[in-house]
Amino acid sequence: MAARIICRQNKLIKTLICRPQSTMSAFEIQHKTPLIKKTEPIPVALYGGRHAVTMLPGGGIGPELMSYVREVFKYAGAPVDFEVIDIDPSDESIDYALTSIKRNGVAIKGNIETKSENTEIISRNVAIRNELDLYINIVHCKSFPGVHARQSNIDLMIIRQNTEGEYAMLEHESVYGVIESMKVVTESNSERVARYAFEFAKRNGRKKVTTIHKANIMKLSDGLFLDTSKRIALEYPEIEHNDMIIDNCCMQLVSNPHQFDVMMMTNLYGSIVSNVACGLIGGAGLLSGRNYGDHYAIFEPGTRNTGTAIAGKNIANPVAMLSASVDMLEHLGHQQHATLIRRAIEKTICEDRIHTSDLGGTAKSTDVVQKVIDHILESDIRPWYKRY
Ligand code: NAI
Repeated sequence: MAARIICRQNKLIKTLICRPQSTMSAFEIQHKTPLIKKTEPIPVALYGGRHAVTMLPGGGIGPELMSYVREVFKYAGAPVDFEVIDIDPSDESIDYALTSIKRNGVAIKGNIETKSENTEIISRNVAIRNELDLYINIVHCKSFPGVHARQSNIDLMIIRQNTEGEYAMLEHESVYGVIESMKVVTESNSERVARYAFEFAKRNGRKKVTTIHKANIMKLSDGLFLDTSKRIALEYPEIEHNDMIIDNCCMQLVSNPHQFDVMMMTNLYGSIVSNVACGLIGGAGLLSGRNYGDHYAIFEPGTRNTGTAIAGKNIANPVAMLSASVDMLEHLGHQQHATLIRRAIEKTICEDRIHTSDLGGTAKSTDVVQKVIDHILESDIRPWYKRY
């Protein structure tokens, strides 16, 4: 037994020492996560009123969804030029993507699938969020009238810590057969999330913030997250604050989601809770997600799936990615274009009820996109329409 432990430990040490150079930079990126990363912003690229935006199509349905975004932007006249970068999880293309996002300030992204079981090949999605210090993820879970769903009239904001917690990916085998996985919670990142949640509530007329946690079991890590949120709540007496254990939260979300307004939580709980909420509203194909740091922003579908099984079949719901592109336009300040596309999406989904199979319909992805484009072309609020 003792020999087996030593042998296993030697193997681990050897693996670390013999780490191939090609995986080194991503590996180093990952292990910078626990602390707030200082990023030096570089001037954002802006040419003649047009914005340059990094486009990371990712795997699965990502590339086809991005082609729909480009098509819709073309008809809406959105002043955005895309710098498309395909990330290969096994090489250094992530460095080029990071440089591009730092230059452009903004990216739109599909999910990059990490197929390898090699522990040194880390998730590019997590690495990008950590390297750019995108410490906030937001999913606005709002029901679409006209979409048949398990719950209606939902309107809640899920605000999630996006760079540490259970995604620290600091795992090791202390002795043979015993794996330890570290959950990292820092006061500084907890405070940034809490402040963001309360400030968001205040500025957007929201009434209540609920901290989701498991502090009854993880007394130190989730305890710190909860205590920090309680401390920040004192600065916002006009906003009601309460807390709920994650297990109960999942049950309450399914049975009585209307009790929630703004919800804040650590990383993994955020992933689970936003997937539950998306499921209640209509599934993975509808809602968008936003990742913010102090200098950069990335927009993507809310559930971050790759949809590999449905890729290339013309059945993926394009709405989540199109909504992400609208969020991006709002972030860039192109409000007119954003409103134009958002209204066209809402008309298509809520009034015409052109639904893909995930929503119980028979439409193809391209039918939905075509209808959105038709509404854009019909509209007299096209920003450039009145000029000619
Ligand atoms: P998946 O990609 O299989 O999607 C889950 C379900 O949602 C599938 O039934 C899929 O067909 C459906 N779906 C997704 N997008 C859709 C769309 N636009 N229209 C219609 N249906 C849609 O999800 P899974 O198996 O959870 O994850 C696949 C990969 O994504 C894995 O490699 C996983 O590691 C990665 N992933 C990464 C996340 C991250 O935060 N980095 C989060 C979730 C998944």
